[in-house]
Amino acid sequence: MAAASASHILLTLAPLVLLLVLPQIQAQAPAPAPAGPVNLTGILDKNGQFTTFIKLLISTQVANQIQSQINSSSEGMTVFAPTDNAFNNLEKGLLNNLDNQKQVQLVLYHVTSKFYRQSDLLLVSNPVRTLASGQDVWGLNFTGQGNQVNVSSGVVETPINSVLRQNFPLAVYQVDKVLLPEELSAAKSPSAAPAPEGKKPTEGSNKKVPAASEPAPADDKTGAGGRLNAGLGFVAGLALLCMGVLS
Ligand SMILES: *[C@@H]1O[C@H](CO)[C@@H](O)[C@H](O)[C@H]1NC(C)=O
Ligand SMILES: *[C@@H]1O[C@H](CO)[C@@H](O)[C@H](O)[C@H]1NC(C)=O
Ligand SMILES: *[C@@H]1O[C@H](CO)[C@@H](O)[C@H](O)[C@H]1NC(C)=O
Ligand SMILES: *[C@@H]1O[C@H](CO)[C@@H](O)[C@H](O)[C@H]1NC(C)=O
Repeated sequence: MAAASASHILLTLAPLVLLLVLPQIQAQAPAPAPAGPVNLTGILDKNGQFTTFIKLLISTQVANQIQSQINSSSEGMTVFAPTDNAFNNLEKGLLNNLDNQKQVQLVLYHVTSKFYRQSDLLLVSNPVRTLASGQDVWGLNFTGQGNQVNVSSGVVETPINSVLRQNFPLAVYQVDKVLLPEELSAAKSPSAAPAPEGKKPTEGSNKKVPAASEPAPADDKTGAGGRLNAGLGFVAGLALLCMGVLS
C-alpha cells in the first residue's frame, strides 16, 4: 500500500524532474568555464576607477611585462591597484616630477611576482619583495588583525578592502593610496617645497571601513558550478532509472 503510493508518486514526479533538469543540463553543457587569457588592464578597465594606473601601466610598459610574466611564471602575480582618487591625493606634481625610470619603479612596486590570496597576505613574512625589489629593499609589509589586512610601504599604510580578482594566476586588489616607497620619497625630499601641514592627511571617511568579511568574488563559482553540474547529473540519472524501473 505504502510502497504502491510511493512508486506512484515517483512515477508522476520522474517526468517532472526530467523536465526541470534537462533544460539546465543542456544550457550548462556548452560552458566549460574557460579562463581565457588573463587581461590585467581589462580587469581594471571594467572597474572604471583606475584610469591613471592603467595609463601608467601602459606608458611604462609594465603591463606587457606583467602579461608575459603571468604566462611564464608558475608562481602567479599580485597587483595592488591604486584608484584614480589615490593618485589625485598625491602631492601635486609628484608623479610628473618622477623621471621615466622612477615611474617604472613606482609601478613595479605595486606588483609582486607571486600570487597571494587575501588570506595569504595575513601570513606572509615581511617585507615582501615586489617587482621593484633589487639589491635595495623596495618591499611591502603586510599586517593584519582578524581578516583585515593593511599594506604598508613604510611611508603610507592602507587597508586592502576590495578584491578585484583572486583567481590564480593573478590577484588584483584595490588600494586607496598610492604605495609610495621610502626609497622614492627620500629621493625627492631635497627638491619640491614640502608644503607644511596646513591640512592633516587624516580623512575621517576612513573610519567606516566595511567589515571586510565579504565573500571572495568569482573565486568559488567554478567549484560550486562543477558540484552543481554533478548534482544535476545525478538527479537526472536517478529520474531515468525510476522511469526505466517503473514503466
Ligand atoms: C585587454 O583589455 C583591454 C581593455 O578592455 C583591451 O583594450 C585589450 O585589447 C585587452 N588585451 C588583450 C590581450 O585581450
Ligand atoms: C599569453 O598567453 C596567451 C595564450 O596562452 C597568448 O594569447 C598571449 O599572447 C600571451 N601573452 C604574452 C604577453 O605572452
Ligand atoms: C590599518 O591602517 C589603518 C590606517 O590606514 C589603521 O587605522 C588600522 O589600525 C590598521 N589596521 C591594522 C590591522 O594594522
Ligand atoms: C617592514 O617591517 C620591518 C620590521 O618588521 C621594518 O624593518 C621595515 O622597515 C618595514 N618596511 C616597510 C616597507 O614598511
